[in-house]
Amino acid sequence: MKAIRFVNFAIAAALTVVVNTGFSNGQAARTSDAPQPLRVVSGSSGSANSMIEQGKYLTDAGNCISCHTRAGAAAFSGGEPFVTKWGTIYSSNITPDEGTGIGNWTVEDFRRAMHDGLAPGGRHLFPAFPYTSFTRVSDADVDAIYAYLRTLQPVRYTPPADSFVFRQRWGMVFWNLMFFRAQRFQPDPRQSQEWNRGAYLVGGLGHCDACHSPRNFFMAEVASRAYSGGTLQETVQGGRVRPWSAVNLTSARTGLAAWSVDDLAKYLESGFCLRAGVFGPMSDVVDNSLRYLSTPDVHAVAVYLKSLPPLQSSEAPVPEAAVRAGAKIYSDHCQECHMSSGRGGLFSAPPLAASAVVQADDPASLINIILYGPDAPKDVSSGGWQTMMPYADDLNDVQIAAVSNYVRGSWNNRGSEVTPAEVAGQR
Ligand code: HEC
Ligand code: HEC
Ligand code: HEC
Repeated sequence: MKAIRFVNFAIAAALTVVVNTGFSNGQAARTSDAPQPLRVVSGSSGSANSMIEQGKYLTDAGNCISCHTRAGAAAFSGGEPFVTKWGTIYSSNITPDEGTGIGNWTVEDFRRAMHDGLAPGGRHLFPAFPYTSFTRVSDADVDAIYAYLRTLQPVRYTPPADSFVFRQRWGMVFWNLMFFRAQRFQPDPRQSQEWNRGAYLVGGLGHCDACHSPRNFFMAEVASRAYSGGTLQETVQGGRVRPWSAVNLTSARTGLAAWSVDDLAKYLESGFCLRAGVFGPMSDVVDNSLRYLSTPDVHAVAVYLKSLPPLQSSEAPVPEAAVRAGAKIYSDHCQECHMSSGRGGLFSAPPLAASAVVQADDPASLINIILYGPDAPKDVSSGGWQTMMPYADDLNDVQIAAVSNYVRGSWNNRGSEVTPAEVAGQR
């Protein structure tokens, strides 16, 4: 699978390691060594089979496969590298192999990993594994995922050893104390059932916040600005890292204000709607996860997202002169598809006016799509649009910065100024 790295988490954990010394391994002990018999979850029709089916559905919703499958290997057998400047951490083998996977785990062990970030023996997991979101998932749903994973073919495979910093797992004790609260999702009785279902999926298995929320100095999510946009790193060929911005998902003008619930639902289940097409790391999310969700669940996600109160950016807009400097490049290279109005067209391209990608605080994704094109996944349709080409060879850093500033400062769009150095950094 394409590797999306939450480099941030790892750095945070590493920082905690540096800051704190002299602590021994955690004390939590395993309750039992024997695999537990399955318990039937509430809400299922009662048979083990329906529980396994439910577990498969939830495993898709959590996109476990994207992170737990290294290129060309058996699904869920792990070994996907997460490269950071502190070293590399590898995802675990979560097939039911007894020696190298989670075959010896009890359902309680599995719950503790998903809810508390703790593996058997008190081994602290790093939040590159999004237990910070999975902690919200109900016991019944975690148990169903466990039941499904146990039906997989065991694969004997031990991922490579993590780099030194990531073997210092006790540092996570402090990180968790400061930034993590283990708690299940609490429904809000003032909201509809659909809204609550959406909130549960978005903040739980969907872990949308892991990419779409900003982080503090220790790279923990900033709760007060949840879903207002975040950044992440993708490792591309040659082990190089490419930054991305995950857009503001709130109904701010620089976020999803222009999107209807139906636009959102269509985008999430198909990777495309009249407002935008999917590209970059979001492609894996749609391709391996969201498109398997039921129509009511996707609709619930959209309803919840549209209810998020707008969180605007406070950054200074692009100066007038910088906007004008990109006008000619826009009319020469972009206008034929995106139109002079920025509104795009049914058979050419999505709108850039009111686009969350264009207006994101961090222009990383805007720069990437201009440099490299959308590179959309093959099984995601893009309606009747034309194909946007990469401009890395046709436009230099100054020109790409200029056209970025043009689209960020036109048609009532708002975004801070992009510099040629930022473009150069993403080549
Ligand atoms: C964003 C990437 C990502 C996603 C999504 C993800 N994981 Fe992981 N997971 C990891 C990484 C990385 C590790 C290794 C963490 C460590 O070594 O501290 C891990 C570790 C684990 C472990 C601990 C196993 C062990 O012995 O170390 C379990 C269990 C697990 N994941 C289950 C799941 C399940 C179930 C899902 C889906 C609901 C899931 N993961 C989704 C990245 C991910
Ligand atoms: C692995 C990181 C990651 C995760 C997890 C993730 N996203 Fe994204 N998302 C991105 C990035 C990067 C973009 C910008 C690229 C693009 O628009 O395709 C994006 C774009 C989007 C967009 C399109 C905005 C636009 O204007 O084009 C929507 C809507 C969205 N995400 C919703 C979600 C939802 C809902 C979830 C959880 C179910 C989610 N995302 C999970 C990284 C992520
Ligand atoms: C041949 C038609 C065409 C041309 C020319 C073109 N684009 Fe695009 N553009 C598209 C299509 C189609 C998409 C949607 C791709 C997808 O997401 O799969 C797109 C998407 C985008 C997006 C993402 C919008 C969003 O909200 O998701 C941006 C930003 C963008 N283009 C900017 C530009 C810029 C800047 C130029 C000129 C340098 C340009 N495009 C030239 C067709 C074009």
